[in-house]
Amino acid sequence: MSNYHIKHLEEYFQVYRKSVNHPEAFWEEIAEENFIWRKKWDAVLEWDFSKPEVKWFKGAKLNITENCIDRHLLTRGNKTAILFEPNDPNEPAEYITYKQLSIRVNKFANVLKSKGIQKGDRVCIYLPMIPELSIALLACARIGAIHSVVFAGFSATALATRINDADCKMVITSDGSFRGNKTIDLKGIVDEGLEKCKTVESVLVVKRIHTDIQMKSGRDYWIAPLLEKASATCEIEIMDAEDPLFILYTSGSTGQPKGMLHTTAGYMVYTAYTFKNVFNYKEDDVYWCSADIGWITGHSYIVYGPLANGATSVMFEGVPSYPDFGRFWQVIEKHKVNQFYTAPTAIRALAKEKLAFVEKHDLSSLKVLGSVGEPINEEAWHWYNDNIGKKKSPIVDTFFQTENGGIMLTPIPYVTPTKPTYATLPFIGIQPVLMDENGQELKGNKVEGRLCFQFPWPSIARTIWGNHQRYKETYFTAFKGKYFTGDGALRDEVGYYRITGRVDDVIIVSGHNLGTAPIEDAINEHPAVAESAIVGFPHDIKGNALYGYVILKEVGESRNHDNLRKEINQIITEHIGPIAKLDKIQFTDGLPKTRSGKIMRRILRKIATNESKNLGDISTLLNPEVVQSIIDHKL
Ligand code: WT7
Repeated sequence: MSNYHIKHLEEYFQVYRKSVNHPEAFWEEIAEENFIWRKKWDAVLEWDFSKPEVKWFKGAKLNITENCIDRHLLTRGNKTAILFEPNDPNEPAEYITYKQLSIRVNKFANVLKSKGIQKGDRVCIYLPMIPELSIALLACARIGAIHSVVFAGFSATALATRINDADCKMVITSDGSFRGNKTIDLKGIVDEGLEKCKTVESVLVVKRIHTDIQMKSGRDYWIAPLLEKASATCEIEIMDAEDPLFILYTSGSTGQPKGMLHTTAGYMVYTAYTFKNVFNYKEDDVYWCSADIGWITGHSYIVYGPLANGATSVMFEGVPSYPDFGRFWQVIEKHKVNQFYTAPTAIRALAKEKLAFVEKHDLSSLKVLGSVGEPINEEAWHWYNDNIGKKKSPIVDTFFQTENGGIMLTPIPYVTPTKPTYATLPFIGIQPVLMDENGQELKGNKVEGRLCFQFPWPSIARTIWGNHQRYKETYFTAFKGKYFTGDGALRDEVGYYRITGRVDDVIIVSGHNLGTAPIEDAINEHPAVAESAIVGFPHDIKGNALYGYVILKEVGESRNHDNLRKEINQIITEHIGPIAKLDKIQFTDGLPKTRSGKIMRRILRKIATNESKNLGDISTLLNPEVVQSIIDHKL
């Protein structure tokens, strides 16, 4: 990307106006000046939210890895592209230059080809935060294979569901992973998951923890010997602008996870442009995003956005609490990190610990702090600002979603005055609107409603893999002609946005997006359970925690309730992963339902959050009498 940054607020408004009044001219200029194209586009944008269909840079040809790697070789070949900081602070960090990255990605791409992977094939990546994870993504992109990264904290069942949904041909995993002082048997989880999958022909295994694992002959291959033999040059596959780049699953309020499909050119342009401006990245900066590449934040702001800018991007394998609660701050000091991007849940957890963990370290390299994934509460915002940024590094509270691909609402550091708990203003090119429940737009300031976007941006997901109808219903039907986020938001007296939280049945726990339906389905698998309902309630560290109401099959089920609670959480862990475990489980004889049989989660939510005094009118319920009994037995 060119070196130009937006420098002051007036300029932001000027550029913003241009991007809204002349979006095609605006994005054409960004695309033209900052990337390598094998062929230019025939049209900048074609769109119709009623179908919905969006095409950016139609007809253009490119490869994203040529933009993220090859073009830097001459000017930045010896600059560190990926700076790997291992779980164990005593293991040396690894500095992978753009030249080395190029060799490793090319070799990896050749290994994929040698195992029969071709353009359009889906490859599931289930790896811990080690360099091979970034390399595997890029290797897929180089040959036009569609990567589908599954966060390595998901269970075997969740992994299998995702592999099957996309008919993946290959899985890339490791012999295990390090997490603090624990190891996790990733390969074992893959083996278990693959018992339920028919499309996977091969499994590539990275050696990381060096334990003995089972290798299934004819299916499983250690990757190291294959890489050793592979050629270090692999021609790029020339991709169409709208060819798929990756699938990434996100939870829905109902049913199966949704495989959000992102395509090539628009995603590249938007993640690169946002990265540059949201983090004010300068050539010699060291940038660190502590997210996992299993989430969209990692795809866009550890891998593609930074590398498209020729940045140095830190990849951290560990956890904030190992070997102690100073680990993040020690890494910042060690690598002189300039931009640090993390989640409110991590900030809240670390803010609970002694300040000495922070004070031990020199954090003077920091210039920009970022927050993402959930609303950041005022206390956490100030703690971050005072103790980490020392009141001199602006906090960018960035709002976006897996579906969005890149940051949508955010301050621009040193440009937009920040305000605690506010994501402030739309990024360039983004057109937010707030809608009321009747579908009317709320104009002007000091309003609160449902957050929508009324115009496409380059990195909007194009569909849900294999289910375009669901894509349309989920995002484009609630408000005609608009993309609906599922979040509530308010616009204050100066036009700043604050996200107020989900308005659907998605609950954000520790920054993880969890749908209620899959968790309820898992609980209902327990032989003693008749029915269940999940709601969120506020939690000091996690933001929200899960509260489950469970009806047992036999009234007065005599078994020990604590054991049942453990078993229920065990089932959830097996079906989804430990992130979806319930903090509280209340056994009840009934659940409040509408006359059409729908569970009234709104009432359950109020009870769980101690607001049972204002439940509103419950007389229209099918069974209003259960409500009092639920209140009486609240945990
Ligand atoms: C949901 C999307 C985008 C990165 C990881 C999450 C919530 C995200 C913020 C923020 C308040 C936020 C929303 C959104 N969210 N960023 N800065 N302030 N809420 O991606 O898993 O697709 O979750 O995360 O509720 O809809 P995701």
